Amino acid sequence: MNLPGLLDTEAIRKDFPVLDRVLHEGKKLVYLDNAATSQKPRQVLDALQQYYELHNANVHRGIHVLAEEATALYEGARDKVAAFVNAPSRDEVIFTKNASESLNLVANMLGWADEPYRVDERTEIVITEMEHHSNIVPWQLLSQRTGAKLKWFGITDDGRLDLSRIDEIITEKTKIVSFVLVSNILGTHNPVETIVRRAQDVGALVLIDASQAAPHMALDVQALQADFVAFTGHKMCGPTGIGVLWGRQELLEDLPPFLGGGEMIETVSMHSSTYAPAPHKFEAGTPPIAQAVGMGAAVDYLSGIGMDRIAAHEQTLTEYALHRLRDIPGLRIVGPETAEDRGAAISFTLGDIHPHDVGQVLDEQGIAVRVGHHCARPVCLRFGIPATTRASFYLYSTPAEVDALADGLEYVRNFFG
Ligand code: ALA
Repeated sequence: MNLPGLLDTEAIRKDFPVLDRVLHEGKKLVYLDNAATSQKPRQVLDALQQYYELHNANVHRGIHVLAEEATALYEGARDKVAAFVNAPSRDEVIFTKNASESLNLVANMLGWADEPYRVDERTEIVITEMEHHSNIVPWQLLSQRTGAKLKWFGITDDGRLDLSRIDEIITEKTKIVSFVLVSNILGTHNPVETIVRRAQDVGALVLIDASQAAPHMALDVQALQADFVAFTGHKMCGPTGIGVLWGRQELLEDLPPFLGGGEMIETVSMHSSTYAPAPHKFEAGTPPIAQAVGMGAAVDYLSGIGMDRIAAHEQTLTEYALHRLRDIPGLRIVGPETAEDRGAAISFTLGDIHPHDVGQVLDEQGIAVRVGHHCARPVCLRFGIPATTRASFYLYSTPAEVDALADGLEYVRNFFG
């Protein structure tokens, strides 16, 4: 099979020390669990170490040299992330702990908001059946608290969003539509434009969960035309403990804070407080400073390679993987079966072998995949399966690793007879 557009993975893999690991007496690590978390390049590890060795201090609070350096590094990371997603202003980038916190933050902003953003029993919230639990549970909580009705788009048999009733689902009552750009379990890349257009027609806000998109493709928050975009650092070569919420400036100015504490205020008295402008209004307490610095280094690293080149690499690899997997008897892809409009996470079942057994036997061969419901249990319920096995690729993944997966799955089949 012709494999155009692959990156120079031999050079790239030298940046990722963990990829040299040999497991289980001589099995080379084949890391195919990138949708859960990516590995980290030396450049990010060095930035973290240098921060702690040379610059560690609390931010925004001191007048000493280290405090100024730490603040410059932390705010510099904000500049890098803003440029990475083409944000019109750096003040629209809020650092959080992870994408879940970013999504919860929006739900809570709306939960405490006044008109015209107020969510109450007269209003509706729209999500989809293919959301990660982090984009379901916060809306269930908000709905329970306010009486707002929670509605959702279903999934078609081929793993795409069923938008056939879009005008009935997104209505004049809809306050917010929150949906995933690329599904972590199905791999589906959703049609943003159609959903955003309808939401805008009825005056609803739009929140996009880009956790499985930001690491893999050029993300332009202005082109998406959403009001909020959430993603996380650890899936895009950055450290754990750092997430991002991008939000339109005028909304961030209008909406109330969720967490209170140091650094998010303008003044405090015993009776009341006023708040700092965004993004600080939404960053109470000591923020994840080192993690933000690491994320800045990750953004530099990915930009240095080029997001379009990374996307092309993964597209080719996904196409090759789907081609190899289709040839395995009894293997059923759960999600789109072609590489068109899909990301690089591929879920499947293998005959009646339980995914946990598949994962365990693959692990014995050094192949790391994720098994289970992938924090998207409604998707498994939709397809009538308890779990899937999921292989997910990244910029350092190779055709040889796809071959190792396919061979490993043949071994699993033989193993279980
Ligand atoms: N959301 C991550 C995954 O899909 C943890 O594996």
